[in-house]
Amino acid sequence: MTQAIRPIRPLVAGNWKMNGLKADLAEALRVRDAVSAPGADLGADVLICPPVTLLQALAEAASGSKLLVGAQDCAAAASGPHTGDLSAEMLRDAGAVATIVGHSERRAAHGELDRVVRRKAEAAYRAGLAAIVCVGETSGERQSGLTLEIVGRQLSASLPDVATAANTIVAYEPIWAIGTGLTPTPADVAEVHSAMREVLVKRFGAEGARMRLLYGGSVKPDNAAEIGSIVDVDGALVGGASLKSNDFLAIIATYKN
Ligand code: PGA
Repeated sequence: MTQAIRPIRPLVAGNWKMNGLKADLAEALRVRDAVSAPGADLGADVLICPPVTLLQALAEAASGSKLLVGAQDCAAAASGPHTGDLSAEMLRDAGAVATIVGHSERRAAHGELDRVVRRKAEAAYRAGLAAIVCVGETSGERQSGLTLEIVGRQLSASLPDVATAANTIVAYEPIWAIGTGLTPTPADVAEVHSAMREVLVKRFGAEGARMRLLYGGSVKPDNAAEIGSIVDVDGALVGGASLKSNDFLAIIATYKN
């Protein structure tokens, strides 16, 4: 179950969700400084997805550093009469290099179906952003033994045909593990990630074999190393623990070169 050699460079991504005012940028800047320090043994790429109000300021502050900046969602449309929405091109213009799409909170609160998520991923690609596509089962689905079926179906329907290892990152986030302090067992994570890998290789061949598969859902400093050592786990999508630089840096530090 433990990875002997990592064939894929991991990604540790922080999702600030609807948290963060200007004063909180200091936390992100601490992360920037720590990961960019000369001699830092940075075994993963590091991304923070702040709320959009802070995106441009953080992207400017992170320019030239090892910290990457992303968004949490994008519109499926490129432009036009979509009051309140933000296009992938706008996010790119503000300094994002990636955007999360299909997070379960958006699927639940905004009724985003797989086909919408897929169109958002396509919009991200068109703007030159990588898409972090989220999938994951509810607790009821897990209890009914439907996890692999649900995740496989979401993956197939949410990923565009033109997905590659460069433009797409998949995040497995069991909904019942998000923000709850609960996590699946390492064996359960391994089972889902290897099933996802199989689906991706079948559809995308070598690109699917190299796509990064993140685990997300209550990743904390004390469980990050164990989760990160599971085969086919190529990093983490971190919510709550990404808001505090000490916690986020402790998670990043579990990824060594
Ligand atoms: P959490 O959130 O780490 O707070 O559980 C993860 C996520 O929703 O991306």
